[in-house]
Formats: sequence, C-alpha cells, structure tokens
Amino acid sequence: MATSVKKTKSVWFCSHCGNEYSKWLGRCPACGEWNTMVEKEVVTGKRPAAVSVPGAGRKPMPLKEVTTAQEDRVSLGSTEVDRLLGGGIVKGSLVLMGGEPGIGKSTLSLQLPLNSPALKTLYVTGEESVKQVKMRADRLGGDASNCLIYSETDMSAILAEAEEVAPDLMIVDSVQTMYCPQVESTAGSVSQIKEVAAQLLRFAKESGVPVVLIGHITKEGAIAGPKILEHIVDVVLQFEGENRGAYRVLRSIKNRFGSTSELAVFEMTGAGLREVANPSEMLIPMHEEGLSGTAISAMLDGNRPFLFEVQALVSSAVYGTAQRSATGFDVRRLNMLLAVLERRAGFKLGQKDVFLNMAGGLRITDPACDLAVICAVLSSNFDYSIPADVCFAGEVGLSGEIRPVSQAERRAVEAARLGFKRIFVSSYTHFDRKPQGIEVVKVADIPALVRALFK
Ligand code: TYD
Ligand code: MG
Repeated sequence: MATSVKKTKSVWFCSHCGNEYSKWLGRCPACGEWNTMVEKEVVTGKRPAAVSVPGAGRKPMPLKEVTTAQEDRVSLGSTEVDRLLGGGIVKGSLVLMGGEPGIGKSTLSLQLPLNSPALKTLYVTGEESVKQVKMRADRLGGDASNCLIYSETDMSAILAEAEEVAPDLMIVDSVQTMYCPQVESTAGSVSQIKEVAAQLLRFAKESGVPVVLIGHITKEGAIAGPKILEHIVDVVLQFEGENRGAYRVLRSIKNRFGSTSELAVFEMTGAGLREVANPSEMLIPMHEEGLSGTAISAMLDGNRPFLFEVQALVSSAVYGTAQRSATGFDVRRLNMLLAVLERRAGFKLGQKDVFLNMAGGLRITDPACDLAVICAVLSSNFDYSIPADVCFAGEVGLSGEIRPVSQAERRAVEAARLGFKRIFVSSYTHFDRKPQGIEVVKVADIPALVRALFK
C-alpha cells in the first residue's frame, strides 16, 4: 500500500538577494551580506509548476526565425509612469512598485485607475479597508466608475475573482499582506512572498492582464523584503525620497521592456501625487543668491537632462576625527573626491567636517556630478559663492583630471534653456555642434578649474 509520507527538508534563503542554500551560512556568497539567512521548510518530491511565458517555443529554434511583434502596451493615465515603463505597461507583465512605508505607493497606485477610467481595474487591498480606499479616492478625485475595490488577502480567492472579473489592469497592495493557503508559513515570510509573486506572474502571463504589485522596503532591506522578488518580476519601480519632504522620485531599476535609469518626479500634495514634468524647476535654488556651499550640476537621468543643486557644508572638526556624511550621494565617492582635492590640488580638508546633500532627496549615481560636488565643497570651505548662472558637468579622476561625460551637449542645451550662462566641462569634451546661448568653459584638471572659477 502506498502511503503518502510528506518529506520536508530545510533550506536557507538570503533575505537580501533571495538566493537559496542547502545550509546556513554566516555570509551570503552571492550578495556578500552578513546574517541574512532565514530558514524555510520545503516539501520535497513535489515541485511547483514552473511559470512559462506564453508564445515561447518549447523546442530550441534558430534565433533568426523567432518573430517579434511590438509589445502590446496599455497607458496608465500618467505621462510620467508611462514614460518610466517605456511607453505604458506591457500586457501580461508583472510590475513591482517598492518603497518605504508612507512614501506614496498606495496613493500612486490608486491614482492610476482613477486617471484612466477606460481601464477596468481590479484593486486588491490587503492593508486598508474598502472604506479607507474610498476616502482616499474621494480626496484624489478622478473617475472611479471603472474601478473595482476588493479587500482580500487569500491569493486563491483573489485569482479566482480576477479570472471572473477579467480586468484590464490589476493592482495588488501589498505583497507582504497576501498569502497562499498551500504554503504553510505566515503572510510576509520569504516563502509566502515568493509564492504570491510566482502566482501573480503566472496569472499575468496566462491572462495577459498587467499586474502592479506593491512591496514595502525598509531602510535596512528588512527580512523578506521585496529584494528577493526582483528576479521574478518583469519591472521594478522604486520610490525614493524623504517622507517628510514633498518630492518623491520614482525610479525604474529593472525593466525587461525598456530602459532603466529613467526617473520620474512627483510632488505629494493634499490631493495626491502631482507629476513634476520639469524637475529642474524644483531642484534649483529656493534661496537667495550669494550663498556659499552650493553648486548646480547638469545631470542626466536615462534620457532626460536636468539641473539640480548640490549643497556642501565644510567646517572645522569639533571632535578629534573629521566627520563625513552624504545624503543622496555615495560617501565613499565623497571621500575619494576629498582625497583627490587634498593630494592633487593641495586643499587641506583632513581636519574638516564635510557634509553633503543632494537637493530634493535625490539619490545621485551620475558621475558627472563629481565636478559640482567638488565646487560645492570648495565654495563652502572658502566661503565663496559660485555665481548663480554657472553649472557643472564632469567626472573627476584619481589624478585630479576632469573627464568628459556622456551627452554633454544635451546637458549644455538644457542649462542654456534654463537661463544658465556658463557650463564647466572637461577639456576633452567633444561637441558636434557648439551649444547656443551658453559659454562652455573647458577645464583639464582641478587646478585649472579653481583658476577659472575662483579667480
Ligand atoms: P501612502 O500612499 O499610504 O503610502 P504607502 O502606501 O507607500 O505606505 O501615503 C503616504 C502619505 O501620503 C501619507 O502619510 C499621507 C500622504 N498623503 C498626502 O499628503 N496627500 C494625499 O492626497 C494622500 C492620499 C496621502
Ligand atoms: Mg500603502
């Protein structure tokens, strides 16, 4: 007689990157994080069905015979979100929207259906009651006639309902509150999160319904954070910004159907999130001219140039060791730039505290900001204010040389459009056409920059 004995074994997941191991490890070999392993019991001998992409051939075939069609996209009623996704959401795709609690994920995801009443939307909420969602929708305005609200956390009920309703768009708020009855652990655990996402992905691919899944991320990338989902989903959009500040940045950090490193800026208002179509306007000074310690950088996000203010404060170290802190900028890169200033240009900053801040709560990774960072630091150090109509775009190398940056011409054109009169770039910058209406100052290294700027 065959007895069905369920065998279980333990596996360990890294809660940071989601890799799976057969034994506990102090440090995850994949992402290098310490103490991130969480144990999970799995039933052996029974593998969950793999998620398949409809239309994908079951047999290997020559690549040149694969036909491609333009992906079918749906507009979400928000120019900025559509642009971030590469021109609307792709049918049958699973989009993860991550961010810290309170940043505006639920607000934005409710605004989307309210602004696109042509789409029949199923909005599944596991966090708020139907009443709460209604109150929020009233505040946001828009047209709620084609939006179905469903308060449920059981995935099997949700999927059954989704099949019945056959929406044009499904929103699930949030992955941490949903659970699959066939998985034993509690909602929010690694295994539940993985299974919920896998089921939603299968639903999306099979039905062609685009799904937006919301996930909370805590600052520490907390246990079972949506980090582990990044491999599963098609697109990852991440909310950034200071909760207290009004501005929020939505960044695309993974996109199977478009480019990443695009970003969209929103302002949190009393009636929801407002799109900021021209981010330069909010990111350049809100104070009077003549303050030292600020410099404007001409930066590029994906495709769009915009200008923003870098702020630095340099003061004598009060305690023995100098403090260095950076908000929105890699502190190691700041240390590198300070070392370059000291060794290659002779500025003694070793005994100084240096604080750096990027305007609007932005997180900057564009190396073209180096030049503005250095200028803001020097400006604060010498208490010399940089003229308000000057901006910068250049990378700084270890020997103090200033390197050219991508698309310098577009940066210069945007700066000219905003009324800047001079842009500092590397001597090695090549322009196909000379930018009109702005003087281009070419500098080869830091001493040359200082001579040209602080003369
Ligand atoms: P929320 O979207 O609930 O954040 P999340 O889902 O990411 O946790 O909203 C975040 C904050 O936004 C909340 O503290 C209240 C504020 N808010 C406004 O300022 N204006 C509004 O119109 C709405 C709906 C929310
Ligand atoms: Mg929420």
